[in-house]
Amino acid sequence: MKVLFKDFNQEAFSFDKDPVLVLEEFWTPEDQTFFQNAMNEATWKRLADMPAVSRAFPNCGNWSKGDIGHQERERFLNKINLPCIADYTGCPPDSKQAHLNLNYFSYQVGDCLSIHDDTIKTDETSQQPSSIRRLAIAAFFHDEWDVDWGGESIVYNEAMDEKGKQTTVEISECIAPEPRSLVMFTVPRFHRICRIDPRATEGYRQLSIETWFMTGL
Ligand SMILES: [Fe+2]
Repeated sequence: MKVLFKDFNQEAFSFDKDPVLVLEEFWTPEDQTFFQNAMNEATWKRLADMPAVSRAFPNCGNWSKGDIGHQERERFLNKINLPCIADYTGCPPDSKQAHLNLNYFSYQVGDCLSIHDDTIKTDETSQQPSSIRRLAIAAFFHDEWDVDWGGESIVYNEAMDEKGKQTTVEISECIAPEPRSLVMFTVPRFHRICRIDPRATEGYRQLSIETWFMTGL
């Protein structure tokens, strides 16, 4: 479902019925400025400096991942405290049971993320996972986006053969990185981020906060 946040019926929506949700104009211009300012102050790391992630996502450019501060994390979690999240996962985002690792991301021309399903692979982390990802969440804070600039999230359905074995994936959604939107979908679900096109305006950075709503194993 894709809907303006002001028209979103929070009580009626369920991730069990509709696994992909796009809320347009979810973040206010004040939220956008607040998180842009925080991103300008944040400590960032490039993909090339994260060997395990680089191995898991080769030829994906050199996007950046930034650390989010405590105050920004609180503001983010307070705002996304929607009943549909608590209904689907069994606990609200600000509860002790929820494990949310929030990070800033910045994609520039040439950056992309190849197809994956958000399950935690052992080659992405040196530790055994103690929780599972239930919902993927992305929030976009750049000032503008144009259809020629790329950076869309493509979400796929798995196609199964008659024995229930995965044979291929089919596109189910193409989600534009609209400024001030909030995107959520249930995990595992195959998806990728399209490469940012050289036609993007000079200095363009696709700015997002991304997280997974995780619950214990
Ligand atoms: Fe992902």
